[in-house]
Amino acid sequence: MPRLHVIGGSRLSGSVRISGAKNAAVAIIPAALLTEATVRIENLPNIYDIHVLVKILQSLGVKTVWETPSTLLIDPSTLSSWQPPYELVKKLRASYYFLGSLVGRYGQAVVPVPGGCDLGPRPIDQHIKGLAALGANVNMEHGLIKVSATKLTGANIYLDVVSVGATINIMLAATRASGRTVIENAAKEPEIVDVANFLNAMGAKIRGAGTDVIRITGVNELGPVSHTVIPDRIEAGTYMVAGAATGGDVLLHEVIPKHLDPLTAKLREMDIQVEVADDSIRVIGNPCPLAADIKTFPYPGFPTDMQALAMVLLTQADGSSMITENVFENRFKHVDELKRMGAQIKLEGRTAFITGRTRLSGAPVKATDLRAGAAFIVAGLIAEGETVISDINHIYRGYENICEKMAALGAQIKEIE
Ligand code: UD1
Repeated sequence: MPRLHVIGGSRLSGSVRISGAKNAAVAIIPAALLTEATVRIENLPNIYDIHVLVKILQSLGVKTVWETPSTLLIDPSTLSSWQPPYELVKKLRASYYFLGSLVGRYGQAVVPVPGGCDLGPRPIDQHIKGLAALGANVNMEHGLIKVSATKLTGANIYLDVVSVGATINIMLAATRASGRTVIENAAKEPEIVDVANFLNAMGAKIRGAGTDVIRITGVNELGPVSHTVIPDRIEAGTYMVAGAATGGDVLLHEVIPKHLDPLTAKLREMDIQVEVADDSIRVIGNPCPLAADIKTFPYPGFPTDMQALAMVLLTQADGSSMITENVFENRFKHVDELKRMGAQIKLEGRTAFITGRTRLSGAPVKATDLRAGAAFIVAGLIAEGETVISDINHIYRGYENICEKMAALGAQIKEIE
């Protein structure tokens, strides 16, 4: 298994193009099954999760063609199965979107309980509650989620927790249901808006995506579509933090700055310079950033996916900082690895107390999940000496060409066997 070798001490500078959003793309690909017409998706990130989803489509009998390395054509008219295989489904969390799209279109879905990053317990009760409210029978047996419906009928659904996955899954199924569905306490992430725009361009009637009430009027038919995926705000945030932590000067282009407001505000609070233009952001690091407190929340709160990265940055801040993780119960697996690199972090329940500023030293670390893996790259960049990151398949699940992009900014990073 390859590992990443990072030598610390480089100051990142230059510009980087941000790829398409993973969390939008992994929903849009399954959503393509809601139509029988041809779907064209542009700006797909070239990442492991997307390749697994394309293999799942192929295993269901769906035709796929890569028009360019980032443009995929999907022809769902040849679909011949509604049971994605376990060996592929276990590789990513987002395979649960096949529940909503297959039951919405064919009234049947059998999907193994999905895998993905281990962030502590990740129940799917809200997905199931939503599908059941639309009239589907949902059974879990032998590790399979079996959903069937003779007819889906619109319903009012109030989510008990704000969930990105449940909001999208219900939206997918409701798009082809008869009548009107209202999702209340819906998640508001930009990726949800992108999925709704994709569906609406096919002829769906979805209003209110991006607010906490989404109204969907079911339609009988959906047509062809060509859609461009929005930029990845978490990839963008990763390069912003890498630029800031190394005291560098990094320009990100092809971003939607509004989606990065929670991070931009926090960096400015830390006295790090962030210049925002129409579709670019420049971050100029401060050698001695101020300490800050961070609380993760659903969008537009500070993203949990940036939590591990923000923690690395806070090890370089002057004084005591605090991070409270409110979205996932146990998303602190990176803390022990960072402590092995010299970080001073104390955990109490859902809160991490970070004392800065500490000189990190390179060490062998294991990418415990996707974003933690990216955080270890940034930690390696500011540490003294060499950091070797193992289990990097997690990182490749979500970051396109991360070694090449980091190296182009001046990072000393390479893959080793
Ligand atoms: C998505 C993102 C992930 C991000 C997370 C939160 C994708 C593919 N992944 O994950 O990168 O970290 O949003 O922004 O888009 N919950 C329940 N019951 C449910 C569903 C969720 O209790 O049925 C809880 C979860 O355990 C968690 C919280 O709700 O505590 C938020 O989870 P959710 O928004 O669903 O995350 P994902 O969609 O899995």
